[in-house]
Amino acid sequence: MAGPSNSDSKGLLYGEYLKLDQLLSCQDPVSRDNENVHDEHLFIITHQAYELWFKQILVELDSIRPLFDGEVVEEANMLLITQRLNRIVLILKLLDDQVAILETMTPLDFLEFRNYLAPASGFQSLQFRLLENTLGVKNEHRVNYGRDHYVTVFKDPVAIQRVKESHEKSSLLLLIQGWLERTPGLEKDGFNFWEKYKEVVTSMLNRMQERAVQDNDPSLLETVARKRDVFETIFDATIHAELVRRGERRLSHKALQGALMIYLYRDNPRFHQAFHMLHLLQDIDSLITKWRYNHVLMVQRMIGSSLAGTGGSSGYQYLRSTLSDRYKVFLDLFNLATFIIPRSCLPPLTPSLARTLSVTENVDEIKKFLS
Ligand code: HEM
Repeated sequence: MAGPSNSDSKGLLYGEYLKLDQLLSCQDPVSRDNENVHDEHLFIITHQAYELWFKQILVELDSIRPLFDGEVVEEANMLLITQRLNRIVLILKLLDDQVAILETMTPLDFLEFRNYLAPASGFQSLQFRLLENTLGVKNEHRVNYGRDHYVTVFKDPVAIQRVKESHEKSSLLLLIQGWLERTPGLEKDGFNFWEKYKEVVTSMLNRMQERAVQDNDPSLLETVARKRDVFETIFDATIHAELVRRGERRLSHKALQGALMIYLYRDNPRFHQAFHMLHLLQDIDSLITKWRYNHVLMVQRMIGSSLAGTGGSSGYQYLRSTLSDRYKVFLDLFNLATFIIPRSCLPPLTPSLARTLSVTENVDEIKKFLS
């Protein structure tokens, strides 16, 4: 680290700046009075490293959220947003890899100090809950801890207040939803993407059906009928709303249309950053799901699948139930793959929208792009 080389000169030394005296005296094994189990040090360091990185992720998320607050997201901010989301992605990759380091501890070694830990449990990680809530994990989708809700484990008023605030503030999911609803091209009196998309899909399905009838192919007929039903779930706003109510979709109907528009027309320059951002949001969801999975495997390896965890839940069984789609915040982005259509079938952009989505004012270039 650059800076003054001794404490006589003004400024901080490395250890002072990083408060290393405090940081490095925070590893206090509970097994110290007895056998002082070697692996407990690794156990503590690993958890502390996780908590530090959770803190950094929260800092990044809280810096991004205000950028979505206004009527429009300034295009100039898109680079900053994607850079920070990408940073979160890289941190999560690191967190996924760290599981393997703790797995170098064997169940027998863990057993040496495991009994000292009760009732402490990762279930009480405040920052993990803040992270989930800030991203947009919905309360009603959570699996309860035994019979209790996760909030009940927090007794410290400051922690309770922070959880409360994290419920009240707009999650990243809500902010992204507002932004997607404003996607250029959705305007009914403009390009009217949704009507055009529905027409194209319907005629694609009609053509498939005609072929099935001509070839007397019952299995293709069945496939077409199934596809129609699936597309109906996004065409019909009432079905979509019911799926949102059941927790099978997250975004509003309009936001879903915006996301699909960006997916399909992402080759247009003004959608490049937007598409990249949606991609990173999926990465975040994927990596957290992978962490949950790696953690469950580690738990099974350390304590098996039948015993309760230190927090009193069914441990492994509870954690396994958190692997389902109910914990995926940007679930709809994953499922968009069902509704994409080939580039060759896309409704062509109007010159006016092509201009909006372009970064050039040069009409010839736009014409070239449209051709
Ligand atoms: C030997 C290693 C570990 C074991 C045996 C273990 C065990 C468990 C168990 C059994 C639970 C369920 C709650 C309970 O009954 O206590 C749990 C939850 C949790 N653990 Fe771990 N854990 C380990 C390492 C870690 C690490 C390194 C972290 C990093 C921060 C962590 C974070 C969490 C979190 C955040 C939860 C709550 C998950 C949720 O509710 O979705 N655990 N852990």
